[in-house]
Amino acid sequence: MIDLKNLTKKFGKKIAVKNLNMTIEKGKITMLIGPSGCGKTTTLKMINRLIDSTEGDIRIKDKSVYDLDPVELRRSIGYVIQETGLFPHMNVFDNIAIVPRLLKWEEKKIKLRVEELLNLVTLNTEYMYKYPLQLSGGERQRVGLARALAADPEILLMDEPFGAIDPINRSKLHDSFISIQEKIEKTIVFVTHDINEAIKLGDKIAILKDGDLVQYDNVYNILYEPENEFVEKLLGHDRNIKALVLKKNRDYYVTEGFVTCQRSDKPDAVITRLQEKNKKIAYVVDSNNKFEGLFLLEKHKKDTEPHLSFVDNPVTVEKNNNLQETFSLMIEAGEGNLPVLTDKNQFIGEIRMDDIFNEFKGER
Ligand SMILES: Nc1ncnc2c1ncn2[C@@H]1O[C@H](COP(=O)(O)OP(=O)(O)O)[C@@H](O)[C@H]1O
Ligand SMILES: [Mg+2]
Repeated sequence: MIDLKNLTKKFGKKIAVKNLNMTIEKGKITMLIGPSGCGKTTTLKMINRLIDSTEGDIRIKDKSVYDLDPVELRRSIGYVIQETGLFPHMNVFDNIAIVPRLLKWEEKKIKLRVEELLNLVTLNTEYMYKYPLQLSGGERQRVGLARALAADPEILLMDEPFGAIDPINRSKLHDSFISIQEKIEKTIVFVTHDINEAIKLGDKIAILKDGDLVQYDNVYNILYEPENEFVEKLLGHDRNIKALVLKKNRDYYVTEGFVTCQRSDKPDAVITRLQEKNKKIAYVVDSNNKFEGLFLLEKHKKDTEPHLSFVDNPVTVEKNNNLQETFSLMIEAGEGNLPVLTDKNQFIGEIRMDDIFNEFKGER
């Protein structure tokens, strides 16, 4: 889709990008990562000709960007930056409508498109008439993304778009960005200096150092076959834990070795089954196997007999969640085993911390 060929950019004597060669795949997210000043932004800006290269070429669908009109090129590529660059004196509608208006779309078509985009980035249509300063940082980034997608470009360039957002909201934006990309399947080049962001969002990761491409590969190979010490250091000591992002509950949960029951079962019978299996938790499902909660076997000091207490919204995980999310939830909940549900709340089994541990001991 996008070919960078022998791409070099010099600013005076400073070489910002050195003879870069890489192919960016259609419909995938390619992350550019590396320390500050390594040439990420310069590379990105050469793609839409905000910066022209000193040597080399960029080809989009086998056409050199230098044979295209730079203004038209930029209109055909979405661009999102940190703090979005929304115009503060324009409301959300007018901000998103900028490129469609330049392209002289009819106002009716623009309105439909703005509504569709707000829906895509999960903002209520009432946001159309708000001004950027009335929005939270996360909401502004959603509008920035909607604006970049306005004319439905095939390519999206994003330069540290979530860099200024606090960690909790950043994680929410990541999740919704992933589900948006599943729908739109754009070719995305995404600059970051955050390795966790690169691993979570990237299909492929390009690691840059002082203008050189150090390694360019899929996330799995980057994590398990780092090219050199620089990449190892960038990944950190906990790269086995980071790699849990790539693994899903659905491949690791177990379907036996735990107790299930129905809400209407006799407590004594449930207690007996729990004691026989030496367990403290019974998962409660209805007759259609829908998850309802769990019974906890408790024994207070004063009591002579143990009894059951019902927990109606315990911590659960979904089968498509990754093992890193599950691992964090286990730590948060103080539970080594968690019930696994489908997205329709059907109970399908249990995931165990021991199995997750074995998973990262098994890898080198
Ligand atoms: N307009 C410019 N003039 C001179 N030097 C620049 C200019 N833009 C970037 N540089 C230099 O080029 C190098 C790469 O910059 P940049 O691509 O912005 O890095 P990154 O985005 O990876 O932090 C840096 O050393 C930076 O100082
Ligand atoms: Mg930069």
